[in-house]
Amino acid sequence: MKLNANDHRRHARRRLPRFAFDYVDGGAEDERCLRRNCDDLAALHLLPQVLRDTRNADPSITVFGQRWAMPCGIAPIGFSGLVRPHGDLLLARAAAAEGVPFVLSTASNDRLEAVREAGLARNPQAQQWLQLYVMSDRAIAEQLVRRARRAGFGALVLTVDVAVSGMRERDVRNGFKLPFRFTPSTLLDLALHPAWSLSMARQGRSPSFVNLSETEGGGDSAQLQAALLARSMDRTLVWEQLDWLRRLWDGPLILKGLLHPADAERAACSGVDAIVVSNHGGRQLDAAPSTISVLPRIVDAVAGRMPVFVDSGFRRGSDVVKALAAGATAAFVGRAAVWGMATGAEAGCRSVLATLRDEIARTMILVGADATADITARHLSGPSISEGGSLV
Ligand SMILES: Cc1cc2nc3c(=O)[nH]c(=O)nc-3n(C[C@H](O)[C@H](O)[C@H](O)COP(=O)(O)O)c2cc1C
Repeated sequence: MKLNANDHRRHARRRLPRFAFDYVDGGAEDERCLRRNCDDLAALHLLPQVLRDTRNADPSITVFGQRWAMPCGIAPIGFSGLVRPHGDLLLARAAAAEGVPFVLSTASNDRLEAVREAGLARNPQAQQWLQLYVMSDRAIAEQLVRRARRAGFGALVLTVDVAVSGMRERDVRNGFKLPFRFTPSTLLDLALHPAWSLSMARQGRSPSFVNLSETEGGGDSAQLQAALLARSMDRTLVWEQLDWLRRLWDGPLILKGLLHPADAERAACSGVDAIVVSNHGGRQLDAAPSTISVLPRIVDAVAGRMPVFVDSGFRRGSDVVKALAAGATAAFVGRAAVWGMATGAEAGCRSVLATLRDEIARTMILVGADATADITARHLSGPSISEGGSLV
């Protein structure tokens, strides 16, 4: 039975070849940060208030003038075509149908124009944002941003925590690298997962980074893909150069991957429109703190000047409510959405999102909150919470 995101994970583990499951599931090095994200959320408790009128409990929120059905969206997932053919389209449709935003990765396998159309076909109000990696050749990013603007993407999410790729040891042990090469162990893995292997074979080609290879004048696609995979990021991109992006993009600009309160302060002063407190789901700096543990200090630093989103480790609606109580505007889910897509394509991802929404609504009623704005630090309790409501 698949009652929650972790049930979808267990089913996904059976359906996917090991290298594909581990690509999604794994974290950096010893995976301490990966575990810390979930452990710190679990260690935090919600203190309910009773005898409150919650008959209209409503988990919806409004951000940048747009309504979200719940304070949750789908985080960018690169190479989702490894999970199912057209994984990006499936995730985008599910998010649109459930009324939440979808962030398309630079490392996506479906054309961004097709993703936009797929979302709009499900919901004319579909909110889709483009996540941007800036590689050494900045022309690639410039082309992507222009295409995203033409296609009608609503916000640009600049990921700032991948100056170099984290060491994902599961991928190395599984011999998983791109371009994909068959080894005796991957062949056995494929044979043991015939449903997945057949669906990929029917597609006729392995997923590629189509949004990079279709950039005009960007050169040979194999070279570009290799550049992305080696994460040849532009390490000269510094705060002062956000103006460069501002000139290209006049919509909301969001920075994803901040953990330091001083960086949050700097973002607020730099005219950024929102931030995502993220450690990339524990896939980058293994020594990084959990996002929930740094969230209150970041919220303090931002002092209401812009929305503060958070991701990394969110599996349950109660996790999202904890983040709201700690001051976040909304939380994003990465793996939870992918596990749903792995088990049941668009419907599977919708099921994960609908469950999250039910869990958020039920948790709100149980803690005595009628609206998301009623969820505050007074609802937080637990060994890791200081008197003032900040995590210590
Ligand atoms: C398989 C996978 C691929 C990802 N690809 C990207 C990406 O291309 N760009 C990005 O900014 N973040 C990427 N992330 C990080 C997510 O956007 C998000 O920060 C993270 O998954 C949140 O943690 P969670 O998976 O525990 O919910 C990826 C995460 C996973 C699991």
